[in-house]
Amino acid sequence: MDAAPERQDVAPEQGQGWLEERLGLRRVARRVLDRPVPEGVTWFHCFGGLTFFTFIVLVVTGIVLAFYYVPSPDHARASVAYIDSSLPFGSLVRNLHRWSAYAMIVLVFLHMVRVFVHGAYRKPRELSWVVGVLMLLAVLALGFTGYLLPWDQKGYWATNVGINIAGSVPVVGTYLADLLRGGHELGALTLLRFYALHVFVLPLLVGVGLVAHFAMIRKQGISKPL
Ligand code: HEM
Repeated sequence: MDAAPERQDVAPEQGQGWLEERLGLRRVARRVLDRPVPEGVTWFHCFGGLTFFTFIVLVVTGIVLAFYYVPSPDHARASVAYIDSSLPFGSLVRNLHRWSAYAMIVLVFLHMVRVFVHGAYRKPRELSWVVGVLMLLAVLALGFTGYLLPWDQKGYWATNVGINIAGSVPVVGTYLADLLRGGHELGALTLLRFYALHVFVLPLLVGVGLVAHFAMIRKQGISKPL
């Protein structure tokens, strides 16, 4: 029987760092990220990547905000005021979070228009489109739930209107509105539910959607521009 071949240590490439020699991260990154791009892609193809960038900014700034925000009617406004005026860089973090949210909504629509105009939703990319629509709904729901969190007049009444619209859906409307509010009145339970949706449920849905979206893009590649 032949003896098993001896393990060969791979010689480090020239200029390779200490960490790279041990972990080989550059090789992994190359394998994951380097994909051929079809000829003729334009700046309009950047909207998907820019949407992803705003999502990362939202997650990072959202984690910082979650260290200080208190989701209760008694403390929400005071905690937001503290972030705005007393926390070092708090107002910067909060504004980055807010403006990235607006930017993400604009960019995701631009991305969708780009995909539509290029007909990139057609076979074999139908599922990328379907997952995209589900993520779009989750992104809009993130904006809606986030609007209530400062617990100010604008957020309170806008949420009231939004929940009343949900309540007008035939058959399930009343149940849906009560589920969102946590009862018949908008109050502490509504704020807590919106907070849970905003920081756990919806980001998780978008995250899972992104994994599926990117896996499909990797498998199929970017469509050839028309
Ligand atoms: C969270 C939101 C989203 C992110 C971060 C995202 C990200 C991306 C990225 C980075 C690409 C590859 C580059 C590009 O074509 O732009 C892509 C492709 C694609 N996206 Fe999205 N996307 C999102 C939402 C959507 C939505 C709402 C739709 C449609 C309803 C959609 C449908 C597609 C399709 C069909 C492709 C393949 C395009 C092609 O092959 O030319 N995506 N997405």
